[in-house]
Amino acid sequence: MKNIYLNIHKANSFNLKKAKKIVENNNLVGLPTETVYGLAGNAYSSEAVKKIFKLKKRSLVNPLIIHFKNLKDTKNDIIHNNSLIKLYNALCPGPITFILNKKTKSNISKIATAGKKTVAVRFPQHKIARSFLKILNVPLAAPSGNISTKLSPTCANDLVDEFGKKLEYILDGGKCKIGLESTIIDLTGKPTILRQGAINTKKISKILKRKISINKKTKSIKSPGQLKYHYSPGIPVFMNKIKAKKSGAFITFGKKFKSAKNHFNLSKSYNLKIAASNLYKTMRKIKNQNFKSISICKIPNVGIGKAINERLKKASNK
Ligand code: TXA
Ligand code: MG
Repeated sequence: MKNIYLNIHKANSFNLKKAKKIVENNNLVGLPTETVYGLAGNAYSSEAVKKIFKLKKRSLVNPLIIHFKNLKDTKNDIIHNNSLIKLYNALCPGPITFILNKKTKSNISKIATAGKKTVAVRFPQHKIARSFLKILNVPLAAPSGNISTKLSPTCANDLVDEFGKKLEYILDGGKCKIGLESTIIDLTGKPTILRQGAINTKKISKILKRKISINKKTKSIKSPGQLKYHYSPGIPVFMNKIKAKKSGAFITFGKKFKSAKNHFNLSKSYNLKIAASNLYKTMRKIKNQNFKSISICKIPNVGIGKAINERLKKASNK
């Protein structure tokens, strides 16, 4: 049998060391996190970072998230502030990314930050990501491991689906627990959410004891990745529907829709967290089964449902 998954490796200590060598040689590794899988390389190396942009077909104006083991390790690269300390202590490691000012002496590749004075910083919670960061001497630039504007990967096979043999080494961490990308909060001024995620605005607001705004305007794009069209399965997506289109599939939530060959359920128990973790996987499956479109029922706009709807809105924007 043809083994197309030769590049997926169990994340034992031997293979973590192998992956470390790859990163030290400025090559790339597929890395599991609790949100989605990343395409990771040495954040201090422009050579490595260029490879990330190339493989993802990502525009060079769209900066990457830099992953660190802990706050202490960021001291040469970013300027800390009170909001960061409070959120870090309450939520990290965890599924949240902070936009902060970069120190002028920082070694982070200018290509990684797209020449900006700010940098997106994240401290992933996933055990494998943490073990890997622990044995590395550098932070990791790691955007989601998908071709630009497409669906993020939520298991190791999805990375193979995206990049085939071009990504030589993938550390297998099973299915991502959350399944949607991290919350992004800009802390360079008035705290502003740039991307919604599992950690919601209410929670952040409680920790910082202040109102948090959400940047919804795509015109004054703070985060270049807040593109209007994103998270696309490669076929049209229609929101708030009650049935599939001709030759299309229908994604359902809860119990009120009947089962059918072209019906895919996100969570029969109306659990939005489960729905979030199944969303990309389900959309990818539908696309790979050659359905021509995806219709999806109304998803309650509460909790992580807000992050789901934010993604669906962009996926349906074409
Ligand atoms: O959950 C996640 O955050 C995953 C995992 C792998 O950590 N990563 C991820 O990276 O989603 P990416 O590159 O797909 O999304 C990062 C977003 C992009 O929208 C980018 O524009 C934005 O972060 N970003 C990066 N640096 C920024 C900066 N300095 N200012 C504003 N936005 C920034
Ligand atoms: Mg992405």
